[in-house]
Amino acid sequence: MSESQTSSSARWVIAIDGPAGAGKSTTAKALARELGLRYLDTGAMYRAIALKASRLGIKGDEGQRAAELLETTEIGFGAGEPQPVFLDGEEVTNLIRTNEIGDLASALSAHTPVRKALVARQQAMVAAGGVILEGRDATTVIAPQADVKVYLTASLEERSRRRHVEFGTKGIEASFESVRSQIEIRDHRDITREDSPLSVAPDATIVESGCRSIEDVIADIKALLPKA
Ligand code: DC
Repeated sequence: MSESQTSSSARWVIAIDGPAGAGKSTTAKALARELGLRYLDTGAMYRAIALKASRLGIKGDEGQRAAELLETTEIGFGAGEPQPVFLDGEEVTNLIRTNEIGDLASALSAHTPVRKALVARQQAMVAAGGVILEGRDATTVIAPQADVKVYLTASLEERSRRRHVEFGTKGIEASFESVRSQIEIRDHRDITREDSPLSVAPDATIVESGCRSIEDVIADIKALLPKA
């Protein structure tokens, strides 16, 4: 690769959206490593403010209070695997991964003031390029100008199976049925909210991740990259 090719690929923006458990994080992290791009987990930012809100007794229907809280809240990322997440300087990487915090993040994310505040931060983090971001509105709102836009998806059964296995490896006890119903509720809320619902951007490519290896999924996405 020539120097100019390297610098153009170094500025690529790849945006991935999709429902819970579709494999967005695994795929985005692997691609970021392979292509030397930064990785931005936008959902972790909703989870971080949800954690702070839950500690203060703020409920999912109190979007305005959560947005006000964000004004004095720092959310940051470190380097490493899993990528460390910081909330006002405290490492909360694992604390934000519970079902309760995921649910509260989903509920708070339906409120426009919360979205506005986080989208502004996310767009600032994407502005310099060289990033792969994933979430629910990465392709439609945060980075509609991205070089590659992917909607990653799999069946509800497959996504629930993966989440169930993931919980097992983390020692979180939950029946398959409860994991599936939680994913269904989360999907419904993320898809039906008025502000920036999870949807397929008109120029996004739908990539199926169910019953396929991560290598195959990554190959599909790499095939969409601009020719350097
Ligand atoms: O991707 P995740 O499960 O960590 O996201 C948690 C919740 O945050 C998700 O249910 C909806 C919300 N979210 C969002 O509204 N927009 C994003 N870009 C990312 C996440």
